[in-house]
Amino acid sequence: MEISATTTAPIETGADTIVVGLVEGEGVPHDIEDGALTALLDRGEAKATRNHLAVAHGSGARWILVGLGARDALDPETARVAAAKALGRARELGTSSLCWEVPHKVDDDVVVGLVEGTVLASYRFASFKTSDEGGSGISRLILSDHGDRGQPVARAAVVARAVNAARDLQNSPANHMTPTLLAQHARDLGQEIAGLSVEVEGREELISRGMGAFGAVAQGSDEEPQLIVMRYADPDASGPRLGLVGKAVTFDTGGISLKPAGKMHEMKFDMSGGAAVIEAMGAIARLRLPVDVIGVVGATENMPSGRSMKPGDVVTAMNGTTIEINNTDAEGRLVLADCLTHAVNEGAERLVDVATLTGAIVTALGSTYAGVMSNDDDWAAAVAGAGERAGEPVWRLPLHQEYADLIKGQYADITNAVENRKAGSITAAEFLARFVGDVPWAHIDIAGTSWNTGRSYGAKGGNGMGVRLLVEVARAHAGED
Ligand code: BES
Ligand code: MN
Ligand code: ZN
Repeated sequence: MEISATTTAPIETGADTIVVGLVEGEGVPHDIEDGALTALLDRGEAKATRNHLAVAHGSGARWILVGLGARDALDPETARVAAAKALGRARELGTSSLCWEVPHKVDDDVVVGLVEGTVLASYRFASFKTSDEGGSGISRLILSDHGDRGQPVARAAVVARAVNAARDLQNSPANHMTPTLLAQHARDLGQEIAGLSVEVEGREELISRGMGAFGAVAQGSDEEPQLIVMRYADPDASGPRLGLVGKAVTFDTGGISLKPAGKMHEMKFDMSGGAAVIEAMGAIARLRLPVDVIGVVGATENMPSGRSMKPGDVVTAMNGTTIEINNTDAEGRLVLADCLTHAVNEGAERLVDVATLTGAIVTALGSTYAGVMSNDDDWAAAVAGAGERAGEPVWRLPLHQEYADLIKGQYADITNAVENRKAGSITAAEFLARFVGDVPWAHIDIAGTSWNTGRSYGAKGGNGMGVRLLVEVARAHAGED
């Protein structure tokens, strides 16, 4: 989809479909000659009620009127949802080029929402369908406004495409998205995007680095694990080096502590955090944000085999901490432990990790908020603020010495699985906290928010959760807006 901004009037853009947003009490912003749009509103066929749709034809184009609700509640999320609704109707009607008439007097972030809602709603994953049931989709999106919106539209296009790219990585099944293939995708981004460097290490190298925790997870699989390190250091970067760390377990069977069969297929999504980091790094570099950022992604399968780690095994992480593995299904924290240490060793001064880490976060927060846990109030607030602005909200859960006490090991320093399962998401975070030293760090548990959330612009399958949030963290870090 080609995406652009213009100050040309919608009808002059040549788009076959024009979308007009209706704000309560404000009528039709620009009607066509015969007053057809206002007539539709007067008759009650078109309404300003949120997401109400009506279609008209006139002046050689198709018009979709979509309700935006009240002016004072017109935020980016309203824009995303309305744009997704309009796109759905436009697709049904066979639209190939679509022009959004930007509502009057809205901030750039609402324009960003319109682009994101359209691009995210137009996403289809059909790589493995032998016949394309979904049709061809729209090829051109134009945002028309009286003033210049070129900058926010271009930025939103980069970010929304990165989100959809992350969704492709998520949705690809584990036999087509092995650690090696995921790493290859990261390498391809490095080839394509100026200033983005990508280095990948395999089993031998990560073992010789002393990554005994990551290595323990990987040892059960025939697939080569991959330590993916991406760097972007903008020439105008100022401020502390940012470290983004992602869990990319390309398939989590649970290992010897095998998961039940029922929903095991969903564990192809256990690489969602890594996918978000890889695509956020790509977007940050494409946008040339003035930041110094390193992305570290630990990619592996978690498999049962004759070589697998076993309950009770003790391993030594790269930072010297000894870990008792009491449940091989608590593998994400083992992978992240060494990746966090690596990010710190590579000079990260602010850390965000993103991971589908615990079932407990799904129980606590469902599919609406992701959980965030942090050792630093200011950094937690910065990350939560970025999530709010990006439309990927996160809710903070506490850390506490009493939670930290729960992960004490009987035979080793710490255990990867607390027996009584109390505060499962928090004890996982307490585990991770042992690997970040005193670097301000925020851990985002996206286990409930990364797929099948039911949101209109990404209801089924992977939704790329984390990409928008991480780019926004970087933007705020760079002092943009
Ligand atoms: N990848 C899972 C977490 C998960 C579960 C994500 C369900 C999405 C949906 C993780 O590796 C895991 O298995 N966690 C265990 C930890 C437990 C054994 C301490 C869990 O949450 O049950
Ligand atoms: Mn697991
Ligand atoms: Zn997992």
